Amino acid sequence: MTAQLIDGNALSKQLRAQVATDTAQLKAQGLTPGLAVVLVGDNQASQVYVRNKVKACEDAGLHSVLEKYDATMTEAQLLARVAALNNDDSIHGILVQLPLPAHIDAHKVIEAISPAKDVDGFHIASAGALMTGMPGFWPCTPYGCMKMLESIGYNLKGKHAVVIGRSNIVGKPMALMLLQQNATVTICHSATPDLKAMTLQADVIVAAVGKRNVLTADMVKPGAVVLDVGMNRNDEGKLCGDVDFEGVKEVAGHITPVPGGVGPMTITMLLVNTLESAQRALSESQRA
Ligand code: GUN
Repeated sequence: MTAQLIDGNALSKQLRAQVATDTAQLKAQGLTPGLAVVLVGDNQASQVYVRNKVKACEDAGLHSVLEKYDATMTEAQLLARVAALNNDDSIHGILVQLPLPAHIDAHKVIEAISPAKDVDGFHIASAGALMTGMPGFWPCTPYGCMKMLESIGYNLKGKHAVVIGRSNIVGKPMALMLLQQNATVTICHSATPDLKAMTLQADVIVAAVGKRNVLTADMVKPGAVVLDVGMNRNDEGKLCGDVDFEGVKEVAGHITPVPGGVGPMTITMLLVNTLESAQRALSESQRA
């Protein structure tokens, strides 16, 4: 193996310890950061995700509320809950777990969240803030990827970054964050005719497709940094990413494993965003 591992568990532990310290400081000033997690329906994966989010909050000393609703909840009822949470001073972050049941318009629900509490960074105002370099919340998964690059002291200026995947949650915001750090950015997707020709030019590759073996060793320039956002199951049912880890680790300079790579960073950045939201609320109340 030539690549160095970027350990998402170790980095998360370090960042969450900092969140806990800062949270304690905020509490000493009379404000407890609070996150509301809203789950509608009984999607099995979502149940696990929200439990992990709430547990991470508790471990770092944040206040968290988990609101679970039946799949029969109407869109109007959910919008009413979001409005109530927007007006709740004990809540600084609102996360509505996706996917929502088909009869609810997820876009409408996300847009109902106050941008000041949009710790997922999914609101159009948050996306616009990222695009224009204004203050706002960054989506947690690509934000976590940026922290991983920072942790190895990687300077993106003048580097070529290739993002595979163009989702609103990962691919597109990832590209904007890399661009903001002065990388030359290429976004590849299912209609890219020759993916390998693109990835072979890359100093940094972010794989965020949701399909196994999207990136194999022959597609990677020696020494490149490879970040794997994928969360898939292999034939044996084991968790794996989008990258052929066994092959690529022999070529890359740095690589993130799955599990224990980008995954834990997503929840970590949710805590970071919630803490920041509370800090902003405190500054505003002191200015008022
Ligand atoms: N579903 C899968 N990942 C996420 C996430 O990061 N946030 C929300 N709200 N829903 C998700």
